Amino acid sequence: MFDVVCIGAATEDIFFFSDKFEVSDKKLLLPWKEKFTAGGLERRLGGGAFNASVAFSRLGLKSAFFGRVGTDPAGRAIKEFLEKEHVSTKFLVSASEIKTSTSMLLSSGGERTIVMYRGENDNLLEAKPDWDRVLNCRWIFLTDLAGTNNDLLFEIAKRTEQKGVKLAYVPGQKELQLGKDKLKPVLATAEILVLNSYEAETILGEQKEVERLLVEFKKFGVEFPVITVGQDGAYAYDGKKFYHQESIPKVTVVDRTGAGDAFSSTFSAGIILGKTISESLLLAAKNASSVITKIGGTDGLLTLQALKDFG
Ligand SMILES: Nc1ncnc2c1ncn2[C@@H]1O[C@H](COP(=O)(O)OP(=O)(O)OP(=O)(O)O)[C@@H](O)[C@H]1O
Ligand SMILES: [Mg+2]
Repeated sequence: MFDVVCIGAATEDIFFFSDKFEVSDKKLLLPWKEKFTAGGLERRLGGGAFNASVAFSRLGLKSAFFGRVGTDPAGRAIKEFLEKEHVSTKFLVSASEIKTSTSMLLSSGGERTIVMYRGENDNLLEAKPDWDRVLNCRWIFLTDLAGTNNDLLFEIAKRTEQKGVKLAYVPGQKELQLGKDKLKPVLATAEILVLNSYEAETILGEQKEVERLLVEFKKFGVEFPVITVGQDGAYAYDGKKFYHQESIPKVTVVDRTGAGDAFSSTFSAGIILGKTISESLLLAAKNASSVITKIGGTDGLLTLQALKDFG
């Protein structure tokens, strides 16, 4: 039985680095019809569920990845990487008719703009999952399904609830737009919900201080709502007490990619391992901090022992 099955995206991430990217009014400006020469290039594998499944495995949990890739070189590399990381690929669907999701990250000074292709890769219902096999686990870690088909989201919430499998949910961009009322069945099922403050406000449709937002999510039935605020750290609430964890500052932010994934998966791992909310928040902040000192979403993911010694 798996401790946790991670559902969502696996991608190939191609990083173009430049200190000459021009940003104006929060927009990246590139000359149309012309060439722009980047100063550096890196390739990594990523995607929310992919990063999380690797994080869980390094933290000593038995994890599996459930998502779709193509049979192209990137799809094969994803499978090999997961196997090397002792993440089960039992539920990895390789389909010849799709192209593996790919992101182009235009990166400068640790921040980046992402151009991504997700296609139909996240429509896992098309793969006709054997839910009894998938849900033979303690936890489901559900990430951005790219909203190609919200049926899957509600199907997973319903089935985890019926089976008594715990759900950790990290909604994607399009799912946020559904809003609190449509997302109600998922929120009511979720044991853990991790969002950044912008995402929390988008779902609830109002701007409030973080603690008020946490209370709202608790009312919707989330057991442990968590809201991250970048460098300002993260907040959690258990219905009785509010928790705040400072971010762990690192002098060199190399690439912010995967900070959110590292945080949400490591917090969940802490709870799965029976640690307290405070302990889980600290582990999450450390792993997120480590990830941003390296390129991509997995290079900096640490083991429990390494986290103990970190920072
Ligand atoms: N500059 C930073 N320095 C140290 N820690 C950081 C920094 N940025 C983010 N973190 C850590 O990562 C956590 C999550 O970051 P953030 O709130 O930006 O999530 P996010 O918006 O979901 O990120 P992502 O873009 O990866 O999805 C923070 O709570 C913090 O612990
Ligand atoms: Mg995020």
